[in-house]
Amino acid sequence: MTKTQTFSAIMFSSINCYTPPVMKTMITDSIMVAAEFISSGEVVAFPTETVYGLGASIFDQDAIQKIFLAKGRPTDNPLIAHLGSRSQIEQIVSEVTPVAAKLMDVFFPGPLTLVMAKSADVPPMATAGLETIGVRMPAHQTALNFIRACRFPLVAPSANLSGKPSPTTWEAVKTDLDGRISCILKGEQTDFGLESTVVDCTGEILLVLRAGAITLEQLRAVIPATQLAKADANFPARSPGLKYRHYSPQAQVVVVNDLTAMRPNNSAFIGLQAPSVSAEFHQILICQNVAQYAKSLFQFFRQCDEVGIQTIYCESVEERGLGLALMDRIKRAASS
Ligand code: TXA
Ligand code: MG
Repeated sequence: MTKTQTFSAIMFSSINCYTPPVMKTMITDSIMVAAEFISSGEVVAFPTETVYGLGASIFDQDAIQKIFLAKGRPTDNPLIAHLGSRSQIEQIVSEVTPVAAKLMDVFFPGPLTLVMAKSADVPPMATAGLETIGVRMPAHQTALNFIRACRFPLVAPSANLSGKPSPTTWEAVKTDLDGRISCILKGEQTDFGLESTVVDCTGEILLVLRAGAITLEQLRAVIPATQLAKADANFPARSPGLKYRHYSPQAQVVVVNDLTAMRPNNSAFIGLQAPSVSAEFHQILICQNVAQYAKSLFQFFRQCDEVGIQTIYCESVEERGLGLALMDRIKRAASS
């Protein structure tokens, strides 16, 4: 058996019960210390402008295995490559199309992931065997300095246990992954709080596979024909990650259109307007705008779980601008 086959066998037979060996997790604000762990083949959680990522060198298959094991992530879910500088892209893709180049000019560094044809140097484990790779360059100084100190692009999924909400603070990373990874590089709470927008640049039409911090309207201002990928028979193959349970707190999530139709019994509320029964909720967060709502959502889910809330009511917002990504995450949490 090859190393990859052995690994797949472990993952598919026991994905939900495998526990990696307990290790000491160092929590540091030193980029050099964190980069040293990457050089020695370990994985490191680090802040970005969207959510915290769990990074490994893109050329280190053993370290990439550790990402899947630490998260309990299905091995058919590909990872996103993170660049420290635009020129690093040449190491990991076989071709930069004119559309991809235009998007990079406008949105790199930033919360946009471009799916492109991968180079032969990228190990199949990074892309779950796909011939494409998602690439982004974070707009976050600590992330950029860290990746540059590692000298190679890093693959990094969100730094949560699979199925849990993505972490927006280093403390949330610690809750999920303490003892399962070598190091957490500390930073502030992340700015956007939702993951990057993922677009497929390999076809004739630019397709949004995952709504995110860069909006459909922003993309259409650059590439007018951009489409949202439809959930049809081809979709799971195009964006493997989206078929999995995602972003879910323990509590039941309920989308609310009518604020008078809630039963505030051991429950919580997050939204833009205060409901008339505000005082009866155990936890309540009224956000000033959609951006603040998006930034706070996953952290709010986690806080509710810590105190044993049973139901989290989330006020629905219009599905335009950042509201599209916010409602995507809320609906996924509500349907799982
Ligand atoms: O903001 C983000 O994107 C964060 C930070 C850490 O950068 N990362 C993140 O990674 O959310 P992850 O692994 O949690 O989500 C990556 C998504 C998954 O839905 C995956 O299926 C999709 O991107 N993806 C990755 N590579 C792909 C590819 N080659 N083709 C299609 N979808 C891909
Ligand atoms: Mg994730």
